[in-house]
Order: sequence, then structure tokens, then C-alpha cells
Amino acid sequence: LTLYIPMDSVACAVGADAVAAEFATEAARRKLDITIVRTSSRGLFWLEPLVEVDTPQGRAGYREVSPDQVASLLDVDLAANGDHLLSVGLVEQLPYLKTQQRLLFARAGITSPLSLEHYLAHGGYQGLEHAARLSHDEIVAEVLESGLRGRGGAAFPAGIKWRTVRQAQAEQKYVVCNADEGDSGSFADRMLMEGDPFLLIEGMTIAGLAVGASRGYIYVRSEYAPAIAVLREAIDIARAHGYLGADVAHGGHEFEIEVREGAGAYICGEETSLLESVEGRRGTVRAKPPLPALHGLFGQPTLVHNVLSLASVPLIMSRGASWYRNFGMGRSLGTMAFQLAGNVRRGGLVERAFGLTLRELVFDYGGGTASGKPVKAVQLGGPLGAWIPPSQFDTPLDYEALAAIGAMLGHGGAVLCDDSLHLGQMARFAMQFCAEESCGKCTPCRIGSTRGVEVIERLLAAPDSAERERQRALLDDLCDTMQYGSLCALGGMTPFPVQSAMRHFPADFGLDTQEQA
Ligand code: NAI
Ligand code: SF4
Repeated sequence: LTLYIPMDSVACAVGADAVAAEFATEAARRKLDITIVRTSSRGLFWLEPLVEVDTPQGRAGYREVSPDQVASLLDVDLAANGDHLLSVGLVEQLPYLKTQQRLLFARAGITSPLSLEHYLAHGGYQGLEHAARLSHDEIVAEVLESGLRGRGGAAFPAGIKWRTVRQAQAEQKYVVCNADEGDSGSFADRMLMEGDPFLLIEGMTIAGLAVGASRGYIYVRSEYAPAIAVLREAIDIARAHGYLGADVAHGGHEFEIEVREGAGAYICGEETSLLESVEGRRGTVRAKPPLPALHGLFGQPTLVHNVLSLASVPLIMSRGASWYRNFGMGRSLGTMAFQLAGNVRRGGLVERAFGLTLRELVFDYGGGTASGKPVKAVQLGGPLGAWIPPSQFDTPLDYEALAAIGAMLGHGGAVLCDDSLHLGQMARFAMQFCAEESCGKCTPCRIGSTRGVEVIERLLAAPDSAERERQRALLDDLCDTMQYGSLCALGGMTPFPVQSAMRHFPADFGLDTQEQA
């Protein structure tokens, strides 16, 4: 009997390690021949710890297993998909998973993160093999043709970035992976690093080959300790098997990767602060231009990309750009890793081609709120993202469609809230967050965010409509200054959650609809 139990942080946080240990103990006591494989997570977090068992029909699952249920599970015939209170049937037939289009997360929950053998058996390193047969310019052309856009949030065309770094003249170039993942409600980078580290390593190696870089850095937030450990071990394994080092996959190309730990500042997810931090300095934003693509790490041309952007590349290489373009809509091509969090019944990872609606994401996958109360709003794209009311839930999840309603997809995190959340307080929180995380380099953000907290407090406490109107005009003016006068997205986007909250939920600010901006 083979059991699969995730070793992902979320599964472990709800007891997966203890469940695995109990299965081992109980099996030994009963003299049963059991193999326990620690895998990555499927990302169906509401079912964790999800224990899977091989059956002739596929893997059968048992949900929310706790150590004290292990004995009763071993009493039934698990190998024959035996009936048990915790049974969810065949895992790949669960609608939540079956309807997804898992490209990036194709191996999630299936393979063991640090098994290079599993990785190779499930299509690993086919992208690098193909890329090694192409010229540098052909690799860049393929990425350009795929339509891949940066998955960190800004959605800049990846191929254009690659071409810029490729064409820059320099002795030394770098690939830097941004794994700071500071957005509230997002966890896809973490899941990928913990669950499928060779995919990121392969993507970075292809990127190095294409742009002519021999060194890569993965900048991971220090809170992601398990991801850091897994990455370091995976890098050693890849090197030991010739996939990193002086002669990558015997192609005569040198590529090395080092993991750097952040120290907890949100602003270090901004690419230029991140570069400062990798260089050993305090994370403050550098003015752009010059772009990192031309003048990046240690002043050299640097390809900076989010984890998911780099991890998309092996598949684009192995399956081809035209295949990848079949997914998505408009100019948003490929799949996106949507992440459901907050007050949600079925939190987890949903990888789908761009174009599904927010309603499908929130209700078909998420199942609405965990509290059972009506969904009041969703904050999409992290703490700098807009609050979206249910009346706009039919908007397709596509970069341009969201921009048209004043929202953004960002890194794909969606945080749900029910009708008990006060959006006036959340607007205040957005300004407070900016004040705490501001790097202090520019005035609209450093000073504006603190004034923003004060003006929102005055607006919420205003004794009459004349005072409310005065404070709201002041807040609008301040938001305008922050949006257009800030040096980077932290100050520049803080007005989004503030103004969207005010626009869609005027009552939470004591404003009636007529007073609405
Ligand atoms: P940006 O639009 O300035 O740049 C996007 C990327 O394209 C950068 O790497 C930039 O260097 C590159 N680029 C721009 N023009 C280029 C050109 N002509 N040639 C080559 N490369 C070029 O956006 P920024 O400030 O890097 O990112 C802002 C986004 O970050 C926001 O939209 C937000 O969604 C996201 N964000 C994500 C977080 C996360 O946890 N993933 C946290 C906070 C913000
Ligand atoms: Fe620093 Fe804020 Fe200015 Fe960005 S907007 S450079 S975080 S002070």
C-alpha cells in the first residue's frame, strides 16, 4: 500500500507530519507493508491534511485526517478505495481540481519535491533540453511569441525584457528570481518553491542560457524557511546531476544559483529594492531608468522575474509558444495561478487560463465565505489591489478587463470578506500599511501615507456631511498626489484600495450614494 501525504507548509501547519508519523507507527504495529511518500500539496487547502492512496482507478483521497483517525482508516481496505467517513473519492475527479488547467502546477500533489527522478519522470528538464538546441535569440523569440507576461503583478511582456537583457553588452549578467511574495493572500510562489523546486531551477537555467547570464539569485522572504531549505537542497541535487555548474547538461554553458534570504520588508519585493538587498544594503527603491535589464545587480544587466514567470518557461520551451498561446484571452495568455484566501469556504490554488470570471473563482471554486454570510467584496492583487463588489463579479480575470474597472490582478491573490468587514477601516489599514512599509525615499508615500491615516480617521469621525465632504476632497487630492507622484508602486497604488472602498461602499464612510465621488 502506498500513501501520499503532503509536506507543504499548509498541510504541515494542520498536522500532516503527525499524521504521517502515526501511519508509520500504526502500520508497524499491525505489521502492514506501507510506503509513505511525502509529496507536494494539490493546493486544495480546505482538505488538508489530505491523504491519498493508490487504487486501480487512480488516487483516492481522505480529507482533514488527524492522527486519531489513522487507526480507523487502516481498518478499511484503502487500496480498493474503501468507504470511510473522510473519503472524498478519486482526487482527480473532484470538480475543484478536474476543472483546472494545471500547467505550472501539473506536478502539485503528485511528485515528491526533492525527487529529481520524479521530476524527470513527469516531463522535467525537457524544456532545457529543447532550449539547448536553439540559439539564444531563438529562445528569446519563443518567449516573446508565447505572449508570457510577468506574473509578479505588473504583467510586462517577458520576451521584451529578455530581449533587452540579451542585447545588453556586458561581461557579466544575472538572472534574479523575485520570491519575496509579500502580497497578503498569495502563496503560489511558496507552493511552487516548496513543491516543485526543480521547475524554478530549470526556468532560471533556460533564462540564463538565453540572456547570457552565468549566475542566478533567488531572493526568498525569510518567513519561507521550508521553501529556502527545499530550494537549497534542490540546487545541490541539480548540481550533483550536472543540471547546474560549469557545464550545464553538457551544453558548455555555465550557470549557478544562490538563494538569498530577505529580512521581512515588503518593499524588498520591489525589484530595485530587492537588488539593493541582494547587494547587502538596506532595501530602498532606486529610480528607474536605468532599468534593471540594463543596469541591475552590481550595475550589470539583470533579468528580474517573479517565480511563476520563470517557472512558466520550461513548458513554453517543451510544448512550444503556439501551444501556450492557446490558453487565455486577449493579451492575457497562458494560465494564471489564482489564490483564494481570507474568509473563504474552500481556500486554495486555482490554476486556470485567463478569462474565467471572478464569480466563478469566488463561488464555484471558493464556495463563498467560510462564515456563510454574504460576500461583501474581494480584494484582488494584494494589499495594494482594489476592493471589488459583487456587482462586478462577472468581470473576466484578464489584465485589461480588470484595468477597465479600476482593478488589477497583481499576483493573483483574492481575499474574500463577508458583510461584517468595515471597508472604511480597511481603507485606513491600507494607508497604515503603506506608512509602515514605506522605504522613505519619496515624499508622497513617506508623508502622504501618514497624513492618509489621519484624514481617513477624520472622515470616519466627521460629525456632519459638510465636514465629511471636506475630508473626502482632501483624501481625493492626497490619493491623486500619491498615485502620480510616488516613485514606486507602494505609494503609487495605495490609493487603489482606499478609493475603491470609498467608491463601492460609501456607507462605510458615512457617505450616502449621492455624496459618492
Ligand atoms: P513596472 O511596470 O515598473 O515594471 C515591470 C517589469 O518590467 C520590471 O521588471 C521592469 O524592470 C520591466 N520593464 C519595464 N519596462 C521595460 C523595458 N522597456 N524593457 C525591459 N524591461 C522593462 O512595475 P513594477 O514596479 O516592477 O511592479 C509593480 C507591480 O508589482 C504591481 O502591479 C503589483 O501588482 C506588483 N506587486 C507584487 C507583489 C507580490 O507579492 N508579488 C507585491 C507588491 C506589488
Ligand atoms: Fe519608497 Fe514609498 Fe517612494 Fe516607493 S513610493 S520609493 S516605497 S517612499
